[in-house]
Amino acid sequence: MALKDNIQSLLGQVQEMKAANAEELEALRIKYLSKKGEITALFNEFRTVPSDQKRELGQLLNQLRQETEGRINELREQFEAKQAEADRLDLTRTPDPIALGTRHPLSLVREEIEDIFSRIGFTIAQGPEVEDDKHVYGMLNFAPEHPARDMQDTFFIEKEKGVQKPTDVLLRSHTSSVQTRVMTSQKPPIRVLCPGRVYRNEAISARAHCFFHQVEGLYIDKNVSFADLREALLYFSKEMFGPETKIRLRPSYFPFTEPSAEMDISCNICGGKGCSFCKGTGWVEILGCGMVDPNVLEACGIDSKEYSGYAFGMGVERITNLKYRVKDLRLFSENDVRFLKQFESC
Ligand code: DAH
Repeated sequence: MALKDNIQSLLGQVQEMKAANAEELEALRIKYLSKKGEITALFNEFRTVPSDQKRELGQLLNQLRQETEGRINELREQFEAKQAEADRLDLTRTPDPIALGTRHPLSLVREEIEDIFSRIGFTIAQGPEVEDDKHVYGMLNFAPEHPARDMQDTFFIEKEKGVQKPTDVLLRSHTSSVQTRVMTSQKPPIRVLCPGRVYRNEAISARAHCFFHQVEGLYIDKNVSFADLREALLYFSKEMFGPETKIRLRPSYFPFTEPSAEMDISCNICGGKGCSFCKGTGWVEILGCGMVDPNVLEACGIDSKEYSGYAFGMGVERITNLKYRVKDLRLFSENDVRFLKQFESC
């Protein structure tokens, strides 16, 4: 009964069978079940067994083969499951997504203004922030004693340390200075938009800052009329604040325009019904504008009998406030990421 003993000892081995990896498992399969394997050898030996023992030994041998195959399949499934788990982990992946920065809300709004006016033929012009009195005030028809030149408003730059006035070097207090730069260097027709930073000697609070941003517009050509100005500003307001937006022009005064006006839009927060933002009036002021004063044209070397033009100037912070409801001006320059990251990066 040596065959029976061999079968039983192999059965014991097979039940204990272990493999550390797929290669070891394959080695076990070859050891027991291949053509030269141990179990196959027992089947060969079985042929010589006397017929009265065939039934019992045959059953035992079949049991041995089934258990071996079963155990090998079980181990193989375990390895395959582990492998599938490992395949799910992408070890080449960056552990954390890269944090993208966002655009500053003033840049977003400035670009939107530029985009709207570029669609009706305006190009961008720039001028220096450190300017002289002539370009900021003199050529813009400011009388010599005009209060805007006063130290209260304008930052004058000391030429020599400790020597204050008289100096005509200053930080521009409005982007209207770029008008004079453009008109003295280009010939009409002129159609420019001048975005930039301006400075004023103001105490910093939620509603005022010592620097802020403006966009100036200037159009000089033959036969430019106030109706052209109104049309351009209505187009801008609808593009910026929505097609239902209404505008109204109120007479005003600026030294460099005649006639001058201030423009209100229907409050885009309450839709014109009246709210705390528009102080119950339904209107909010967004810009100053007018027909370029002939004195300004002449001061810049443009014949005021041949040419006329319009100009307008708006505060970017004001428009941003209306678009994004930012109540405190200081937020724009504090660089607090909790504020900045609320704006889309696009
Ligand atoms: N420069 C003016 C300011 O800073 C704004 C302004 C008003 C600009 C009327 C213009 C204009 O071009 O026509 O308050």
